[in-house]
Amino acid sequence: MVMAERVIPPRVAAAERVASEMGFKKSCIPEVGRLLGLAAASKPHGVVAESGTGSGVGTAWLHSGLGPGARLVTVERDEELARRAAGIFADDERVSVLTGDWRLLDQHAPFDVFFCDGGGKRDDARKVVEHLAPGGLLVLDDFTPSPHWPPRFEGEVDELRLFYLTHPDLEATEMLTTPTSSAVIATRRSRVGF
Ligand SMILES: C[S@@+](CC[C@H](N)C(=O)[O-])C[C@H]1O[C@@H](n2cnc3c(N)ncnc32)[C@H](O)[C@@H]1O
Repeated sequence: MVMAERVIPPRVAAAERVASEMGFKKSCIPEVGRLLGLAAASKPHGVVAESGTGSGVGTAWLHSGLGPGARLVTVERDEELARRAAGIFADDERVSVLTGDWRLLDQHAPFDVFFCDGGGKRDDARKVVEHLAPGGLLVLDDFTPSPHWPPRFEGEVDELRLFYLTHPDLEATEMLTTPTSSAVIATRRSRVGF
């Protein structure tokens, strides 16, 4: 039996073309992309955010699950990448592509979904968590699976991954996205008064 290939959303294909034209090689993989689509779809009226638009591949996957009442805001510091990515979503007023540092996202927080992929993840992890709404979903990709606890990368304890996986305000887990890559997925706990 011949298995049909799963359809790639047209905007993802468009963003991949831009990446190829610009020699941009840091776009998320489809395995992560489908997770992004699922996360966005789980918050049909939510604020969906991305730091590090790149050429718009991750944005397009988030967009593939975006509800009619949701908003998607993404930021990219490279002006040309941001300009090309913005063109892919110009017909959808739910989407804003900002140009500049990831801190431009501050004014749009809290987020119901946050794909933190360029700015924040390493340099201000505390703020990344603070930007999540209660029940908000955080997706961080590009980790290397580790059989150890605490997780290790290149022989050293991976303090960054440990921060997210053990943060008291997060319920977090790590999942394989391919046999050689993983993602951390977390949700911010809702605090009650006891
Ligand atoms: C891994 S790539 C993003 C890929 C994209 N999210 C995707 O899934 O296709 C990281 C991007 O973040 C951008 N970036 C890095 N630091 C940033 C910052 N502080 N503010 C805004 N963008 C940043 C880089 O220019 C790069 O395009």
